Amino acid sequence: MKLIFTKSMSIKVLKVELSEILSLRNLFLQENNFQIRYNACHERGWTDSYILIHNNKKIGYGSVRGKENHADRDSVFEFYIVPPYRNIASIAFQELLHVCAATFIECQSNDFLLTSLLYQFGENINAEVILFGDNTKTLLKSENVIFRKAKDDDIMFEHKAEPEGDYVLAMNNEIIASGGFLLHYNKPFADLYMEVKEDHRKKGYGSFLIQEIKNECYIAGRVPAARCNIDNVASRSTLLKAGLSIAGYLLLGKVRA
Ligand SMILES: CC(C)(COP(=O)(O)OP(=O)(O)OC[C@H]1O[C@@H](n2cnc3c(N)ncnc32)[C@H](O)[C@@H]1OP(=O)(O)O)[C@@H](O)C(=O)NCCC(=O)NCCS
Repeated sequence: MKLIFTKSMSIKVLKVELSEILSLRNLFLQENNFQIRYNACHERGWTDSYILIHNNKKIGYGSVRGKENHADRDSVFEFYIVPPYRNIASIAFQELLHVCAATFIECQSNDFLLTSLLYQFGENINAEVILFGDNTKTLLKSENVIFRKAKDDDIMFEHKAEPEGDYVLAMNNEIIASGGFLLHYNKPFADLYMEVKEDHRKKGYGSFLIQEIKNECYIAGRVPAARCNIDNVASRSTLLKAGLSIAGYLLLGKVRA
């Protein structure tokens, strides 16, 4: 698809240091008040940053990362343009795609600006990951287990899917579940995770653990959020039962030729 430029619409897109986009990125974060799945890519040096210039004014930015490999930088995953210039968002986005030569667009469906551009410029769009935000307080109870912080001398069961957590459920002296919250998201959001020992699953422990970790997360000054693969029914049901709700999907599409 080609959009028609007029002189008054002309946009320059320049590759810049991350520091040059940060004030605009703060506006992006304020507008998108939820966890940004790839937030940490910026500070870890895994992104290329581009500034959008219109009539000598910096009106927005775009960020590109490597979809599979940090070195590739083939996927636009953030795009922001200040509200007075949203009418030229499509033109600016097309120019960004031209300059950065990305072949993929990744976006969260709760980021409405980039989602609309993904559908305008992308094809083969699908979702592999569900994003969750916290919604309600639950009052789940679990018999025979104690929720507490993990101790150095705890004997942890083998974790096959998730890292060993900072919090555990202990049944007598046996650790039957662990989980925690990670701080790689934009503040104030945190990313919950959990794993229940296989022979103790489907007995209410996973959802009880998440309910209790949510409380600890708030006490630590963070808002609980989570994500899981779209086919992880156990995780999705557990997060929903513990009072989270679906906030969006992580979408991926190929840039249309
Ligand atoms: C996800 C996990 C923690 C769930 O633990 P759990 O103790 O079995 O969870 P609960 O017993 O509290 O179950 C909560 C809900 O999920 C449902 N559920 C659990 N496992 C399920 C499965 N395999 N298929 C369908 N539903 C399932 C339960 O039925 C329950 O819903 P209900 O009360 O409406 O019936 C556990 O399966 C696990 O450790 N998986 C591997 C690690 C993982 O995937 N972690 C999450 C990464 S995002």
